[in-house]
Amino acid sequence: MMIKVELKQELRALLKERGAIMLAHNYQRDEVQEAADITGDSLALSQAAADSPAKVIVFCGVHFMAESAAILSPEKTVIIPRMDAGCPMADMITAEDLVREKAKRPGVPVVAYVNTTAAVKALSDICCTSANAVAVVNSVKSDAVYMIPDKNLSHYAARTAKKKMEWWNGWCPTHERLKPAEVIRAKAANPEAVFVCHPECNPSVVDLADHVCSTSGMYKFAKKTQAKTIIVGTEEGILYRLRKENPDKKFIIPSKTLICPNMKLTTLEDVAASLREMKNVVTVPQDMTEAARASLDAMLRVPRDF
Ligand code: 13P
Ligand code: SF4
Repeated sequence: MMIKVELKQELRALLKERGAIMLAHNYQRDEVQEAADITGDSLALSQAAADSPAKVIVFCGVHFMAESAAILSPEKTVIIPRMDAGCPMADMITAEDLVREKAKRPGVPVVAYVNTTAAVKALSDICCTSANAVAVVNSVKSDAVYMIPDKNLSHYAARTAKKKMEWWNGWCPTHERLKPAEVIRAKAANPEAVFVCHPECNPSVVDLADHVCSTSGMYKFAKKTQAKTIIVGTEEGILYRLRKENPDKKFIIPSKTLICPNMKLTTLEDVAASLREMKNVVTVPQDMTEAARASLDAMLRVPRDF
């Protein structure tokens, strides 16, 4: 306990000394979220990084998120405490794969979920997040859209978007593990509960949901709903803030397997070590930064309806 207190004090001192801000994704370990200056979803954190006057950004999340922050703030130093914290879904499509798919569909715009590498974003027309996928797909001036890399988010967008859609066959190994039977079991044990899930879940799970939204959308939903019990279909790190912000409500994760191992790699010790040594700086080549930024900026111009 004493060691943790000392570590937290050292971390605060290092952040001050380096002129740094600490950002943590909603799936990070509780103690990392607790120590962070800002917590949020992938896009909100990248925007927070860009808006902050801090010159150094410590991004506690996975690699594509730190890369997005570096793309949006090329003049800042972006550090990821664990260089090995990747996103398996982002790695399921390479730039070479996308070049091949684009050649099969001349003129069809590519919508890239932010869970992609900078090289893939650079080859795409517009990015989207789990919060704005439908609005982004509908904003594209074409009847057809090719969406990457998540088949589940693409399937979800295709349910309501008014476009002819095709997509890449990628998925999030964590969300894909959630099975309809587990949700049905949780609902049977809590008949008064509502079920909210992330669009990265399989369509068979999305079919059972009362509400489908991004991690940030879940905080809003939890505050607004009249329901006192909420079954949550996403990574279990979401519970930290849900419980803190809604002490009168009960939150249930329907499966013990909803843990993203990459999101859980980062410890407070890693954060302090990265600042002590100013190591694990995330950089993106300039030409790639410009092209990837164009895709992110195109998304940011889409009116927010969420
Ligand atoms: P959010 O955009 O909702 O933060 O989701 C990112 C992610 O990796 C979900 O698995
Ligand atoms: Fe990637 Fe899934 Fe982990 Fe999110 S939860 S970072 S999509 S592997």
